[in-house]
Amino acid sequence: MSEKFKMSRRDFAKTAAIASFAVITKNAEPAEKNVDTLRIGLIGCGGRGFGAVKDNLDGNDNVVVIALADVFEDKLQECRKKLEGMKKNPKYAKKIDIPDELCFVGLDAYKKLLQTNVDIVIHATPPFCRPQHIEEAVEAGKHIFTEKPIAVDPVGVKRFMKAVEKAKEKSLCFATGTQRRSSNAYRETVKKIQDGAIGEIIAARVYWNGSLPFCHERKPGWSDLEYRLRNWYNQIWTCGDNIVEQHIHNIDIINWIMGTHPTKVVASGGRAWKPKEEKYGDLWDHFECDFEYPNGVHMFSFSRHWNNSKEDVFEEVFGTKGKSKCNDMGKDKESPYVQEHIDLVRAIRNETPYLNMGMETAISTMTAIMGRISAYTGQEVTWDDMMKSNLSIVPEELDWTKSYPIGPIPVPGETKLI
Ligand SMILES: NC(=O)c1ccc[n+]([C@@H]2O[C@H](COP(=O)([O-])OP(=O)(O)OC[C@H]3O[C@@H](n4cnc5c(N)ncnc54)[C@H](O)[C@@H]3O)[C@@H](O)[C@H]2O)c1
Repeated sequence: MSEKFKMSRRDFAKTAAIASFAVITKNAEPAEKNVDTLRIGLIGCGGRGFGAVKDNLDGNDNVVVIALADVFEDKLQECRKKLEGMKKNPKYAKKIDIPDELCFVGLDAYKKLLQTNVDIVIHATPPFCRPQHIEEAVEAGKHIFTEKPIAVDPVGVKRFMKAVEKAKEKSLCFATGTQRRSSNAYRETVKKIQDGAIGEIIAARVYWNGSLPFCHERKPGWSDLEYRLRNWYNQIWTCGDNIVEQHIHNIDIINWIMGTHPTKVVASGGRAWKPKEEKYGDLWDHFECDFEYPNGVHMFSFSRHWNNSKEDVFEEVFGTKGKSKCNDMGKDKESPYVQEHIDLVRAIRNETPYLNMGMETAISTMTAIMGRISAYTGQEVTWDDMMKSNLSIVPEELDWTKSYPIGPIPVPGETKLI
């Protein structure tokens, strides 16, 4: 265990802040109030990464973003420019202080960021590299905020689960970007449902019917790997397919209400409109799953990315005395995106009990992967199958000069459950 975590978290925060934050505390509130200044490092400087840093700064005092890491220089610089621009607003002036030497680019950028003295890592890359990065972040003794989903295959989920357990052992706080779990409207409603407001639960349904988030043309000069990473929403190995990447939000709510995960699933799906072109990758565009929980309750799940079609995103549970949309018996007081970061920072400062949301998000990621595999294979798939599975779809080595062919597009009856 590092020296850092032999001390209590509060003791450490005091020591570290006094040692290295003279500049930040200068002209600010009395030093005693500033001893908990927490340093943030961002890995994955795209849309959500920038948003998550801003959410943290919006929700908390005595936090400062000091380090950025991304595989691509242009993505890092775009994010840095937006953050630097925010400094004109006095609200953010002391919360953004990113020197050149703490900006890291490349496939190993995350490793370099983990060697700095950041206290909190915000992880917002696509999900394929999350298990490895989070494992190393925990090893490096960082508190974590990670986006969802947390992996794209069963091997990745199990690796992430081990890292979550390790974080617990090291008292490292761990928040995840499932949004709805940090919404007061959902929190109040879920509590009322669990307390019997709609009677005994007999069924549930969850929808993410939306359009394709993005699809980029290949630019001249881009290697296979550069194209795959920039167009990450269109390969199964980089994003997990739409059921995992996006529909996890809805599946996660029913797992939360039921207090557990389904034991089995039967699913179908396919590729209804996407042409067989490289830019559309190997993803399917629709999934329909019938999940069964241990008590026999079924959750019907409907997930699709069809452009120019009816959009519908919700969760609904049916009980013996009524039904609920899962957020209709409460009110949001704060944006859930900001609340996630308030909860994390308060827990790190010991103002609230120890926080670790990692396992619940790992379980919901595995539930979504289980639905995807049932649809791809045309087989019933059980939770036990997933926990025993050696399926790993992320290439072992990432190399700018290597070839990363697309596909094959899964075909039920041919695609194997491994
Ligand atoms: N909770 C939410 O509501 C929500 C909303 C949007 C996105 N997300 C999640 O956030 C994640 C990122 O989504 P986004 O919309 O910001 O995508 P994005 O493409 O805008 O950003 C991803 C960034 O990660 C970088 N990256 C890729 N591989 C990397 C690696 N190995 N090391 C370091 N950097 C790497 C990319 O270059 C890019 O800058 C996804 O998992 C997505 O599901 C969550």
